[in-house]
Amino acid sequence: PTQPGWVSRSLKQYQGFWHEEGFIPGILSLQEKFRCKPDHIVLTSYPKSGTTWLKALLFSITNRSRYRATDAAANGNPLERCNPHSCVPRLEVYAASNGDDPNPDPVLVNTHLAYSLLPKSMIHSECKIVYVAREPKDVLVSSWHFAVKLRSKDLPPLTFSEAFDMFCNGVSDFGPYWDHVMEYWNAHLKFPHKIFILSYEDLMRRPVYNVKKLAVFIGHPFTDVEEECGVAEDIVSLCSFEKLSNLEVNKIGTRSWANGSVIKNEIFFRKAQIGDWKNYLTDEMRARMDKITREKFKGTGLFDLMVL
Ligand code: A3P
Repeated sequence: PTQPGWVSRSLKQYQGFWHEEGFIPGILSLQEKFRCKPDHIVLTSYPKSGTTWLKALLFSITNRSRYRATDAAANGNPLERCNPHSCVPRLEVYAASNGDDPNPDPVLVNTHLAYSLLPKSMIHSECKIVYVAREPKDVLVSSWHFAVKLRSKDLPPLTFSEAFDMFCNGVSDFGPYWDHVMEYWNAHLKFPHKIFILSYEDLMRRPVYNVKKLAVFIGHPFTDVEEECGVAEDIVSLCSFEKLSNLEVNKIGTRSWANGSVIKNEIFFRKAQIGDWKNYLTDEMRARMDKITREKFKGTGLFDLMVL
């Protein structure tokens, strides 16, 4: 089925998840033609869960011998002059315009595809998958703000309460949100050495600890000398919301969006707070959503991981 989406007129259900219709040919081409290599590092997430942050962190971890995080401007670190999304390609966007050969050069890539929709070559290769999950009420608020800014002008405005209902009913880009998280969670239980799960909230609470864990997981652990020099701490500062959102490229820079329009880089940086949902959801909305989350995440401990 197809129905009006958050941003455009055509959200289509494909293999159990909703996608912008225009992305579906690219997804098909990825599923068929993506050649995953053992050294690929794939960042996966439901949209608005911390992708931009993780892109910056993983780029910094994997490129730290080329670009030191300290004195970043002086040594030409791309994160100083490019938006993190320009440093790490998103596979379904790349595939939308390179359908014949949807294989970008970098080994660090990202996708919002659900686990069951990933190219088979990714499941079967030795590549590493890092999944970041965020508390759903904050994801909803972040998604609504994002959609309002990008929404097609020929559609009526999207109210928060409409967005809330759609989200709860699973009708959102790459949704249902809960199925997205649970598929990666179950895959992580099955293949713990291949799939790493991290929550946005835990990353906020313990950034250095998590950056070190991530580095070990993707096979780039910090050396003793790096530990002594505080390299992980420097990476955390360089990739902080304060630092990235205040860079000129992210304040005034623009980039082209998948549908051909041009968007401002600042759209990826809003508030970066835990619990902003309190400013938007009524008590009734909170209860409805928490009930769904408790049911869907039952027995996983996932909800606890997302609540401070
Ligand atoms: P808010 O809208 O709640 O502020 P994504 O990158 O997956 O699109 O997620 C966007 C969310 O991550 C936004 O949340 C954005 O502000 C936040 N964000 C962006 N960069 C960040 C960073 N460096 N550290 C923490 N949060 C960040």
